[in-house]
Amino acid sequence: MIKKTFLVTAPLYYVNSSPHLGHLYSSLFADFLARYKKMQGYQVFFVMGADQNGQKILNASQDANIGVKKFVDKNTTKFKELWKLANIGYTHFVETSSFNHAHFVQLMFQKLKDDQQLDYKNYVGLYCVHCENFHPQTSNTKCPLCKREMKKFLEENYFLKFNLNAQKQIQKLILQWQKKEKTFTNQLKDFFAQRSSKDFSITRKNSPWGIMVDYDQNQFAYVWFDALLGYISVLNPQEQTLIWKNSKTEIIQIIGKEIMKFHLIYWPTMLMRLDYRLPNDFLVHGWILKNQTKMSKTTGNTISPVKIINKFDADVVRLYLCSIMNSDSDVTFNTRDFYKFYESFVVDNLSNFHFRIITMCKKYLPDIQKQKIEDSQSLTNFMDEFIEEYHQFWVTKSFTKIFKQIDTLLNNGNQMINHEEPWKMHKQKKYNELTMTMLKLLNILKIVADLLNPIAPSISKRIYASLNCRIIHSNFYKTNVKLQQLSDLEKITYLYEKEK
Ligand code: MSP
Repeated sequence: MIKKTFLVTAPLYYVNSSPHLGHLYSSLFADFLARYKKMQGYQVFFVMGADQNGQKILNASQDANIGVKKFVDKNTTKFKELWKLANIGYTHFVETSSFNHAHFVQLMFQKLKDDQQLDYKNYVGLYCVHCENFHPQTSNTKCPLCKREMKKFLEENYFLKFNLNAQKQIQKLILQWQKKEKTFTNQLKDFFAQRSSKDFSITRKNSPWGIMVDYDQNQFAYVWFDALLGYISVLNPQEQTLIWKNSKTEIIQIIGKEIMKFHLIYWPTMLMRLDYRLPNDFLVHGWILKNQTKMSKTTGNTISPVKIINKFDADVVRLYLCSIMNSDSDVTFNTRDFYKFYESFVVDNLSNFHFRIITMCKKYLPDIQKQKIEDSQSLTNFMDEFIEEYHQFWVTKSFTKIFKQIDTLLNNGNQMINHEEPWKMHKQKKYNELTMTMLKLLNILKIVADLLNPIAPSISKRIYASLNCRIIHSNFYKTNVKLQQLSDLEKITYLYEKEK
């Protein structure tokens, strides 16, 4: 059977400094989706990478007094190390200063020229190097986004034609893509309201750290034009066709709200001009705030994900971010809440539930094993609706609700233990009843592991291991834990303990 194909992309991060929690946040949206789709049987492509070109990067390397190539390599390594540590399972990683990528960008320039999609004209306005963003008509010299002083700009560049038809098409698409994230649309409205010509420049003159245009060696790719193409260039030619030329593949792109203009206006225009298909949807998310401001290196309010992951572990951080994740607004990270989450959810709810069930099961095993219980009967039918709801939350990408669903299941499971009191059944030698209860609890625990799988894959694996289960993707959520697999239960330890 031919598998359905899915592509998810995370933004290509500027490697002008080390990664922080905000970067991890963006990548987690993509990783969760990639893992979920894989469980659903899709062939999954997950693209992420490093945005290594442009003035901002060059300036940062000069400030650090390191050669620019060495600088980007060093910082890219830091990002890659974080992705490994955080269990981000991308399938493709693009580095925009690589030869392959540059070659692809040059081919795209050539195609645009051959198809007469370019105009060579004057570019006048103000440029924010930090955002690598152009502001054509503004009397204010401070960048509207990052508030830094902008540079005056006047030079001749290549512009991508953006005629009225294409504009209308893009405006219509934006409405479709933005149905859920209305709060973020002003940036886009401004773009269409502000300027008379909507053509946008895709090159820079004499920009020394960038991809040179083959047919005009004074011009270099504008860093956004170059970086966006990374979503395609990193795939091999067969994959490019399977994904970007094929409407059957589902494509979801994850972006932060400040980079909407580039992704929802420039990018689709480029795709249409270059004869590629458009993505199905964008997931636009808000920021992680610390002390009420966007977490960023410049503000100096960054938190290193490496430190927290090393102290707790990747899955705890993944779960916490999932619990606060919101694609409609900004969220605040504060350490006190994080610790509270660790104690109440991770230790009290999750770890305890797991420990109680497996220890009881081990203890009662000799009596349980003697029972004749029909293994094939489903013990968790009553949860079908609940699981269906969980899947619906994936469709709407409501991560906080996905988390809440798991939390609720654990709460109910813990209550069920307290209510059914298996220890009393054992004492009263009601072995048949005890076996049924234990099997029910074990199956709930297995479902917890199933539901946790895309969010906290290592915890999920540890639970499967203690249940002697193998993960079978095709009938996830459906397979029962069977009596015979209990004969050899793992020696049990707490998944997590208090006092970190
Ligand atoms: N290089 C461009 C993207 C090019 S994609 C072809 C860029 N890089 S970035 O490093 O500045 O940002 C990358 C992503 O990280 C964005 O989606 C951005 O929203 C996200 N975040 C950076 N700081 C963030 C927070 N404090 N909170 C949440 N996400 C944040 O833009």
